Amino acid sequence: MKAQSKIWMDDKFVDWNDAKIHVLTHGLHYGMAIFEGMRCFSTPDGHAIFRLNEHLERFMNSAKIYRMNLGYSAKELARACVELVRKNPAKECYVRPIAFTAYGEMGLNPLKSKISVAIATWQWASYLGADASNRGVRATVSSWVRIDSRSLPPQAKCAANYANSALAKMEALAAGYDEAILLNSHGVVAEGPGENIFRVKDGILSTPPASSGILRGITRDTVIQFARDLRIRFYRNDSTKEELYTSDEVFFSGTAAGIAKVREIDGRKIGYDGFPITDRLAKLYDQVVHGRSKKYSKWLTPVRP
Ligand SMILES: Cc1ncc(COP(=O)(O)O)c(C=O)c1O
Repeated sequence: MKAQSKIWMDDKFVDWNDAKIHVLTHGLHYGMAIFEGMRCFSTPDGHAIFRLNEHLERFMNSAKIYRMNLGYSAKELARACVELVRKNPAKECYVRPIAFTAYGEMGLNPLKSKISVAIATWQWASYLGADASNRGVRATVSSWVRIDSRSLPPQAKCAANYANSALAKMEALAAGYDEAILLNSHGVVAEGPGENIFRVKDGILSTPPASSGILRGITRDTVIQFARDLRIRFYRNDSTKEELYTSDEVFFSGTAAGIAKVREIDGRKIGYDGFPITDRLAKLYDQVVHGRSKKYSKWLTPVRP
């Protein structure tokens, strides 16, 4: 990771190397940290953060689920994100707000801990590699079951959820795949470790519903709105692993991964006739995030110098 200049910590811009916390920070031990991940892109009118308000709305909802009183409004955090991107050298960057139970108390009751809020930015290439949008990635259905809202609410973007993601990711990598696909406790498709998943069969696009135990992705929502606007038939519905194997197209969606084709699942080739619908959606996504579509310009928050 290439160091940037500043990190926003508890309402102050501190030097990158000074943004440190104590080893007895409560959230580090008990997983009590909620976070967000968004991207700032270059556009013809300067740099802009994509769907900043929606990401911060999800951040506030994650905090609410975990009874964290952040002490900042979404508006104040939005201003801090924009100001931080302005101060740091890498303008095309990933933006990571995080809130966690801070140092001071140990033990399982998080309500005794102060909440710290920080925002960092860094340069981050596509999470699944440059090839993901061109050739596509190879995925495997994980033996690990996705967490569900009876145990860890997947709609809260909590650090604890990512232990489940990491188990699936490591298993996939160890088996020689690029990415995992997790089924939920009912045995139907949920999502990737850090991405939502879509499939296309006979010209119909579909994705698992929010009730299947997924994070409601902002990119997922973007793709759904594109499908409507492009008049692509679309459903939210459950699918089994064998329905994935026999799909015409499959792709992951996420802020870190972008729109990433899946060219193989457990040795079954996907995309025999190419990825025409995925390509259309990915092309529009690229245009929109880079400010080349007036229609969706409301989704871009400018970062003016
Ligand atoms: C588990 C999980 N699912 C889906 C996504 C995709 O969400 P988004 O499109 O908002 O980045 C992410 C990324 O944040 C994630 O961590």
